[in-house]
Amino acid sequence: MVAPTKRLSASPDGLNDAATLLRAGALVAFPTETVYGLGADARNSTAVAAIYEAKGRPSFNPLIVHVADAAQAQELVEWPHTAQTLAKAFWPGPLTLVLPLRQGHGLSSLVTAGLETVGLRVPAQDAAQALLRAFGGPVAAPSANPSGRISPTAAEHVMDGLEGRIAAVVDGGACAVGVESTIIGFEAGKPTLLRAGGVAAEDIEAVLGKSLLAGQGSSITAPGQMLSHYAPRGAVRLNATTARAGENLLGFGPVAGTLSLSRSGDLIEAAANLFDCLHRLDALGGPIAVAPIPQIGLGVAINDRLKRAAAPRD
Ligand code: TXA
Ligand code: MG
Repeated sequence: MVAPTKRLSASPDGLNDAATLLRAGALVAFPTETVYGLGADARNSTAVAAIYEAKGRPSFNPLIVHVADAAQAQELVEWPHTAQTLAKAFWPGPLTLVLPLRQGHGLSSLVTAGLETVGLRVPAQDAAQALLRAFGGPVAAPSANPSGRISPTAAEHVMDGLEGRIAAVVDGGACAVGVESTIIGFEAGKPTLLRAGGVAAEDIEAVLGKSLLAGQGSSITAPGQMLSHYAPRGAVRLNATTARAGENLLGFGPVAGTLSLSRSGDLIEAAANLFDCLHRLDALGGPIAVAPIPQIGLGVAINDRLKRAAAPRD
């Protein structure tokens, strides 16, 4: 029998219930400023395994671990000077740092996929912060959607994909940033962009005073890095300025459409609207065409997600 999924409010009571469920090893989806995460106690392998089961992820891949602040992060990982610089500039916020694990970190090896590093993030969203503080420990959380589908930026999106497969979802409204965090690793000590996301690479380079290396598509083939991902049911065609017969056009700036990511051509607004627009067009059915998005600032993360949504599927 499928257990019902509770919808919890982002009130102190709702968040306490969510923390209690996490302590019991249950799965709780919660809002962050990027997308909704599917959270589990990162020290509990049974709970972490349940994430893969609920998402239908085909294999174990490293998950991002969420903590309340940089002090909690430093209990888990080595903390080079550059990590301090980046954390000071961008935490709490949509930045994940991949750092070497410390002895006695206590994280499940299912979270790290057996690697000697882990991706850590301090989310800014109020309910996420309050939940992490109420829980008091590290929370592993990939996006709260079935594997390969569009990421969730509202509690309804989570329910559409995972209702009956997870214990609860905390409803904290729409996600303000709307694309997943930017991931920075340190290859041979040099800051490296592993995934474009909610912090523009240009902003990170400005803080560091140097260019980021481009990730080599390391040995990790995590789902978000696979070519076909974030996929609506219908086919997706990019760089379209008009709709072809049967298509719904997702507009941007001067290209009007059935829906628009941002009529004024604002990339921050477009990122915040991206997954919600894809969910809506998915619900309408049929193929989707998408207007060109400039490849600067958050446009890099938006184009990355769109390219994967449009990729040929197996
Ligand atoms: O915005 C976000 O980052 C969202 C919200 C929920 O916080 N979370 C998210 O988590 O996207 P997840 O677990 O789906 O992200 C996993 C990505 C992998 O694709 C991989 O690229 C990277 O994190 N990653 C995690 N650990 C890593 C490691 N040790 N080395 C390299 N990459 C790692
Ligand atoms: Mg994801």
